[in-house]
Amino acid sequence: MLITLYLSTGLLTAYSHAAKRSITLEHVILLFCMPFTKEKRKEMMPLNLLISNNPKTIEAVKNKESCDVALSLESALIRVKQKKYDVIINDGFNVSGIFDNAVNVKDYLKNTTNDKKIKVFRQEIISVWSVKGGVGRTTTVKRLMEMFDKNIKILVIDFNFQDGGSDLSFLLDLPVIPHIGMYLKERTKESFFKNLIEYSPNISILQAPPGLSFIKDMTPEDVENIIRFARTAFDVIIFDLPNKVDEIVNTVLENSTKKIIVSSGLVSEARRIKELDEDFLVVINSPNRQWKLYYKDFNCITIKELEKILER
Ligand SMILES: Nc1ncnc2c1ncn2[C@@H]1O[C@H](COP(=O)(O)OP(=O)(O)O)[C@@H](O)[C@H]1O
Ligand SMILES: [Mg+2]
Repeated sequence: MLITLYLSTGLLTAYSHAAKRSITLEHVILLFCMPFTKEKRKEMMPLNLLISNNPKTIEAVKNKESCDVALSLESALIRVKQKKYDVIINDGFNVSGIFDNAVNVKDYLKNTTNDKKIKVFRQEIISVWSVKGGVGRTTTVKRLMEMFDKNIKILVIDFNFQDGGSDLSFLLDLPVIPHIGMYLKERTKESFFKNLIEYSPNISILQAPPGLSFIKDMTPEDVENIIRFARTAFDVIIFDLPNKVDEIVNTVLENSTKKIIVSSGLVSEARRIKELDEDFLVVINSPNRQWKLYYKDFNCITIKELEKILER
């Protein structure tokens, strides 16, 4: 069954503001995991309980992350019956044997936010696909790769093969070499890493070759090996996919943890998307609102909303 997920600009902006930091992997995962209702989305937010009666401690913890506060152990016990908390932050109360998710306030404040986030969330393979050409896949890939914190290692893999070079290579002004074709000559882990372009300190790119002849013998097994090698070194792997269905695209989709379909909002695309037997996030890239008629059964996000979300 197709599930399109609704992403809330307001929620992310508020969350980002409250957390006083730029967008992290956690935000992205939160977006992709966003269920249908506002109530459900609230349930997804990390919820901590601080047990403290010290105003300075309460202020320090709240500055780091929003939380509920219990001024005594008794009131904490009442609160945990009402809500399920992710972490119980304890400021000197004897909670041994009571909560198995308790952490001392000093340890909680010492922990850097980013260390904590990366441990919590799994590696992501995000594929950006469409059921029609020229709808904004590459534009979306560029926006996505720029949205992560600098400490998250990202690999962008471009599978848009055509003679003359791919749009992503032109958009990012990449050198002609290295590219996937050069990796395919050796097909070793060493040649995989040797043929990545270091685009920025945390973003690498496996570039499409400048001609189709370089990938003519590429197989689904090659795709699986590329993903396997990539997974040994990167937190997030983003695929810029061509708008077609073949065994290469299918192999990427099968291995993806998150699947995005970019759509120009046409009724024809909506019909094709409805036919798909998988879970996709639909990003609408259209200057007018006509699409709302055809996509009213879905919960979608527009590219404008996505851009607002990604603004720092
Ligand atoms: N929201 C948008 N506003 C204006 N131009 C856009 C927008 N999205 C895409 N484009 C332009 O449309 C063209 C196709 O976009 P692109 O991301 O390359 O699509 P795809 O990768 O699906 O072929 C590009 O020239 C791009 O700059
Ligand atoms: Mg493209």
